[in-house]
Amino acid sequence: MKQLKVANIGMKFGMSHVEGAMQYGAEIAALCDCNEENLQFAGERYNIPAEKRFTDYKALLKTDIDVVTVAVPDRQHRQLSCEFLRAGKHVLCEKPLALTREDLQAIIKAEDESEAKFMVGQICRFTPAFEKAKQLIDDGVLGDLYFVESEYAHDYMKLCDNWRADPLRHGVIGGGCHAVDLLRWLAGDPQEVFAYGTHRLLPMVSYDDATVAVMKFGENLMGKVFVSTGCKRDYTMRTVIYGTKGTLICDNTSPTMTLFTVDEEGVTKQAQTLPVEVNNHNAGKEFAVFADAILNEKPVLTDAREGAKTVAVCLAIVESAKTGKPVNPDYVF
Ligand SMILES: NC(=O)c1ccc[n+]([C@@H]2O[C@H](COP(=O)([O-])OP(=O)(O)OC[C@H]3O[C@@H](n4cnc5c(N)ncnc54)[C@H](O)[C@@H]3O)[C@@H](O)[C@H]2O)c1
Repeated sequence: MKQLKVANIGMKFGMSHVEGAMQYGAEIAALCDCNEENLQFAGERYNIPAEKRFTDYKALLKTDIDVVTVAVPDRQHRQLSCEFLRAGKHVLCEKPLALTREDLQAIIKAEDESEAKFMVGQICRFTPAFEKAKQLIDDGVLGDLYFVESEYAHDYMKLCDNWRADPLRHGVIGGGCHAVDLLRWLAGDPQEVFAYGTHRLLPMVSYDDATVAVMKFGENLMGKVFVSTGCKRDYTMRTVIYGTKGTLICDNTSPTMTLFTVDEEGVTKQAQTLPVEVNNHNAGKEFAVFADAILNEKPVLTDAREGAKTVAVCLAIVESAKTGKPVNPDYVF
């Protein structure tokens, strides 16, 4: 099997992609960051020689690398993704795919016109607890779902002195996209959302720092997302899935999950506690899945359209909280 040559761009959160690619066994052909200090730090940490370190990503467009990972501020996802796709490089880009419909559309177009593959890093689809939840649903253990809820609670008090305070980077899109994407993956596409928001905790941003949205997925299936980026607690993505035959309570930061099932009469049995690995940034699995799609000509589950649909729901939630009206997410790109 060909060894993939990888360039990793953005050396903060993007260092997790270096580790993911290394775990998989790819060759780290280049590290890139426009900030020399961050570049040097990562270069030394991963023992990447100076000639493979770049401050300008454009220098990588004409090299023989196969894959780039893009972990730069969200507003730049469009530019870098489109340029590398046009250069024929496979792109693994961080979430959220983009912040506006125009940018989402541009990335989808570049993906459609390229021979290369594109993946948006919706990492929750590789979180062990959520993978297990998906498996229990698919195996019918929970019966038919009727209510799904997920929350993204993460204290951004020290994270909003930069591009995260961009008015377009509403917390529901920036971080809440994890919870929205998870529910879309587990329960399908919501057809209508209705949301409320409050702004009490993060004075440095212009958008709400807490939002609750209820959702209608289809006949007899509803959901809820709660996003709090000002919360006073540890990071959590507590998720509860209610089905006609059972209920599952899980989290990306807990070593156990709770499963309720029923006896022959449909009565709830004693809860089972299931152990689960805590790995809320499973970059190794994420990279391995993308590499498999590239090398074995498989479709990418979270391609640009899929990433765009998740942002479409987030945009609908933001609009609903602003207007006080229900909104139907627009999935047509
Ligand atoms: N999947 C997750 O859970 C998760 C977690 C954190 C961040 N992210 C995403 O990762 C991306 C980066 O976030 P972060 O927290 O690392 O941000 P950050 O601001 O801490 O770091 C960004 C890095 O990219 C560099 N950079 C910026 N523009 C560049 C360019 N044009 N070329 C080369 N380098 C450039 C900066 O110098 C910096 O080192 C964002 O899209 C964010 O949403 C995802």
